[in-house]
Amino acid sequence: MKSSEKQMTPLKPGNADWQSRKEAAIARAIGILAPVYIEHAKNAEMWDVEGQRFIDFATGIAVCSTGHTNPKVTAAVQQQLQLFSHTCFGITPYSSAVELAEKLNELAPGSTPKKTMFVTTGAEAVENCVKIARAHTGRRGVIAFNGGFHGRTMMAMGLTGKITPYKNLFGPFPGDIFHVPFPIEYLGITLEQTLSALDTLFQVDIAASDVAAIIVEPVQGEGGFYPASNEFLQALRKLCDEHGIVLIADEVQSGFARTGKFFCCEYAGVEPDLMSVAKGVAGGFPLAAVIGKAAIMDAPLPGGLGGTYAGSPIGCAAALAVIDVIDEENLVVRANGIGAMFARRLTQLQQQYPDVIGDIRAQRGAMIAMELVKNGDPNLPDAELTKALVTSAWQNGLILLSCGSRGNVIRFLPALTISDNLINEGMDIVSRCLNTLLA
Ligand SMILES: Cc1ncc(COP(=O)(O)O)c(C=O)c1O
Repeated sequence: MKSSEKQMTPLKPGNADWQSRKEAAIARAIGILAPVYIEHAKNAEMWDVEGQRFIDFATGIAVCSTGHTNPKVTAAVQQQLQLFSHTCFGITPYSSAVELAEKLNELAPGSTPKKTMFVTTGAEAVENCVKIARAHTGRRGVIAFNGGFHGRTMMAMGLTGKITPYKNLFGPFPGDIFHVPFPIEYLGITLEQTLSALDTLFQVDIAASDVAAIIVEPVQGEGGFYPASNEFLQALRKLCDEHGIVLIADEVQSGFARTGKFFCCEYAGVEPDLMSVAKGVAGGFPLAAVIGKAAIMDAPLPGGLGGTYAGSPIGCAAALAVIDVIDEENLVVRANGIGAMFARRLTQLQQQYPDVIGDIRAQRGAMIAMELVKNGDPNLPDAELTKALVTSAWQNGLILLSCGSRGNVIRFLPALTISDNLINEGMDIVSRCLNTLLA
């Protein structure tokens, strides 16, 4: 054999190779924040196919709260995989789903007896909340908030209070959805304005007696990490009680220890009628649920709810392990410690750049954000700088997420198992990137 014919070891494809194959093979609407193709991950760090290391302040959008490849969660899933991976709970059930439902019913806020039903994604949980609320009330209307995000299926998208990029080209949406302003102190939108908008809505568009549900995020997630004040959630509870409306708390992003309570609406002492949960519930395995007051949950007829993969045994095994890890490692408390650490670092950064960092939001555990503006003016959002910071961060080994109706909020969603050292290392990268961008 000539030396030129010797077999060469093929080069391992790198990020650029995978990205160009992605562009050819996957629809362009599936956006990519950082074109680094992850090969493995552990707790709050990830490594790509080129061996580059990243600190993860995103956790796949608030999902891997117990850390990537958490040993207990992984072991529980491996054990389940040895037994069976799917039967369909509605055909031949399994005990883990019942056990998990019992635990969720216990964990849900308030003393009213609860029931749970499982699905697979957050959007599906939201859809099912609306189905259950309509079955219970026999009414049609659903009220949601400007800037809210509830998912990408038709009803969830209809409820979402932002057009671009979620709703463009996809209408018409289901009817009988109404939006009102979400009170945001930083932007000067008051609770009085919200309550007055609801009052007007009841006079102009739909009678309160025709409204099935109000859906609210206890912290607006995609909308910009604006926390719902205790007074706001309490006012919604009162309004719903007065008019027989079902109060749905969309805890998909804010639930499961993320905000320093097991569920974020506990801050307000409010017991929602229904809650949608997903993301952090199963530490990276697709599982979602509706947890709600038993009498309301039982309104739909047998067979009216469910789905082929609803409450997958893999997801249930993972979720049971996630609950144990949260408990054993005291992650609800840790979420507050993480929030306090970020608050310290962000306050220092804000002192350095008072005209750029308009607001820091660290009142809700490890659901933390900073809002970037021009000239310190809340009405001059700096979406370009936000985008540049996200890009510069991943190019320097840190995965950061943005959010916000105006695209000018950086959100920090680290694993609740992240070490102080990694938080500091990540925040050093944020500082360095900002210094460079603002030099
Ligand atoms: C508050 C909220 N609700 C619903 C969803 C939709 O969840 P999924 O993407 O799992 O469908 C999200 C996702 O970001 C969310 O943040």
